[in-house]
Amino acid sequence: MTTAEDQSVSGTSDAVTAGSHATEIARSGAATFRSGGGAVDQQRAAAVIGAALEGIRGAIRDQKVTYEEFDAFKRWLIGVSDTGEWPLFLDVYLEFEVEKVAAQTQDGSVGTILGPFWLDGQAQLDSPATLPMRDDEPGTPMILAGQVTGTDGKPLAGAKVDIWHTDEEGWYSGFASKPPAGNLRGVVTADAEGRYEIHTRKPAPYTIPLDGPTGQMTLAAGWSPWRPAHIHLLVSAPGHRTLTTQLFFTGDPYLGNDVASADKPELTLDPQPTGNGSEVRSDRDFVLEPE
Ligand code: BEZ
Ligand code: FE
Repeated sequence: MTTAEDQSVSGTSDAVTAGSHATEIARSGAATFRSGGGAVDQQRAAAVIGAALEGIRGAIRDQKVTYEEFDAFKRWLIGVSDTGEWPLFLDVYLEFEVEKVAAQTQDGSVGTILGPFWLDGQAQLDSPATLPMRDDEPGTPMILAGQVTGTDGKPLAGAKVDIWHTDEEGWYSGFASKPPAGNLRGVVTADAEGRYEIHTRKPAPYTIPLDGPTGQMTLAAGWSPWRPAHIHLLVSAPGHRTLTTQLFFTGDPYLGNDVASADKPELTLDPQPTGNGSEVRSDRDFVLEPE
């Protein structure tokens, strides 16, 4: 496991910086909470790979793809490797379909994609907790609070709420040079009633990196590169299936047009003023199914 300090990023935030870090993390298989590992069955490999290849061959036939386009595609694929953008590309354009398949067998709260920007080794905090942030962290102060229960309604004492999101300018710590390592990330332990309370800043919408092949392809097709503002969460408790989810905000101009197709109406928050300056608060409970 790496620590938040190991994850500081130097240099400018461009596609190569963010992409190569996301590639390292994907290669390490750090997100073990969702993959079983093990050998690939030959019949299954033939079925899945065969269907994927046939999908691409079908596109070539239907669209009468030329050699010029085929060679441009090869160069683009090489660019995705060179910039380390495979995790970004796959999580923008394919992960939401994998998540839909997983959701067919998941009970409890609604989930969505993980994306490429989760990091392990972040600050361990007890509820009520304030996420690590700069002294002058910009943005609207926000409280997110709620209770974690099982599908039987019983509180899950000591449940963990792993939370990460961008700052008000749309940068993720660990993937951009501006925010310090560990900024606006933490793993919060709920109390004996499964209740958690997290003090943070409201995040902002942002675009996927536009200087790399994923962003360039998105712009070339005339698609929006924006993600609506969101908070990522991994909610876990012993003996329960970990919930991977995100929370969005009512009124966000990019809802319904998320480049990563990850937003869902059930995941929208409508934070209300607390009366303490500009601070807002949203309450959200999570229900986990037994493993
Ligand atoms: C994100 O959640 O930030 C994200 C998800 C998929 C692709 C790129 C970014
Ligand atoms: Fe995100």
